Amino acid sequence: MADRILVTGGTGYIGSHTVVELQNAGYEVIIVDNLSNSGAGVLDNIEKITGIRPVFRKIDCCDYEALAAIFGKYKGIKAIIHFAASKAVGESVEKPLMYYRNNLVSLINLLELMPQFGIGGFVFSSSCTVYGQPDQLPVSESAPVKPAESPYGNTKQVNEEIIQDTVASGANIRSVILRYFNPIGAHPSTEIGELPNGVPQNLVPYITQTAIGIREQLSVFGADYDTPDGSCIRDFINVVDLAKAHVAAIERILQSGQKSPVEVFNIGTGRGLSVLELINTFEKVTGVKLNYRVTDRRAGDIVKVWADPQLANNELGWKAKESIEDTLMSAWNWQVKISKKQE
Ligand code: NAD
Ligand code: WQD
Repeated sequence: MADRILVTGGTGYIGSHTVVELQNAGYEVIIVDNLSNSGAGVLDNIEKITGIRPVFRKIDCCDYEALAAIFGKYKGIKAIIHFAASKAVGESVEKPLMYYRNNLVSLINLLELMPQFGIGGFVFSSSCTVYGQPDQLPVSESAPVKPAESPYGNTKQVNEEIIQDTVASGANIRSVILRYFNPIGAHPSTEIGELPNGVPQNLVPYITQTAIGIREQLSVFGADYDTPDGSCIRDFINVVDLAKAHVAAIERILQSGQKSPVEVFNIGTGRGLSVLELINTFEKVTGVKLNYRVTDRRAGDIVKVWADPQLANNELGWKAKESIEDTLMSAWNWQVKISKKQE
């Protein structure tokens, strides 16, 4: 019988791509999502790609009783992948309590319920935001965690600590914490991708929306940084590659391959690309000219960060494979498709 995996936030951007990879790898998936930042239509699209419709329950992870009922109904869940969270940095500054409540209570509920239902595996979505501006690049997992720039970033740091403390207290839980760098792109089928709510805060959706004419102009937030072309540098990771890292993490937990009960892995390509380099590559692969101009710096931006992914490469047996060209093309194909649908 297929191993049963519960995916919170499974109709969201990274969650939906991960559900596809889990199903392709033979796992049975149960999705829990409150649809606060996604739609149930994603389930049809997952089914189109994999031929399998995952079980879906519209539940808020802050609702302890509702989660308990799910664990009671779907017995034998082997592990949880916890994506469900609020993730907009700017919004978290305006509504810190909403972010602390959603991102902390959800995690606490899951960790409290897991031992009661004999669920031992836990994969958590963390972020390179925990490193702030690293002193050394590429940044490895042993680099210090820096004071968070936003309540959102702080929730990721505190979440990591909650997991560490819970496991250290003797709870029968094994966990893999994945620190994602900058996830971009869409599934090559164009059935699933990122659906930003309102004006995109992240670079690639802003680029694709500008290229298609939804936004007039992209602002490049600063070209006077201490980098070769003056713009900020990031490690852009293809979302399907990222999804596959979760399957590798689940396999490591289920096959008892962990070297310690909580392991932390960087999930990035190991390559830094500047904002201007990304724009140039986008124009080259799509043939679309982008209307952009350099504006003031954005408050709180990290100047440069990219991953040392060696630990994930060696221990998880995972490596980023997709090229930046194919990844940007997938983001563009997705934008074209969703814009046609909205016409
Ligand atoms: P997303 O918003 O597309 O997906 C999150 C999903 O969780 C949504 O479907 C939303 O409806 C759901 N959700 C939110 N709160 C919930 C709750 N209380 N109960 C049930 N469902 C809830 O975001 P994403 O980009 O797919 O991010 C997934 C995870 O990865 C998040 O934890 C995010 O913080 C983390 N992460 C994202 C990025 C990024 O750049 N996208 C980078 C690093 C880490
Ligand atoms: C990338 C670069 C911008 C938009 C954020 C979160 C982080 C993580 C990923 C979850 C920066 C520049 C952007 C625009 C621009 N999320 N930019 N014009 O800031 O690296 O990280 O998302 O954990 O926590 O902080 O990603 O896509 O917002 O920006 O010039 O319109 O693009 O200044 O240099 P960031 P981003």
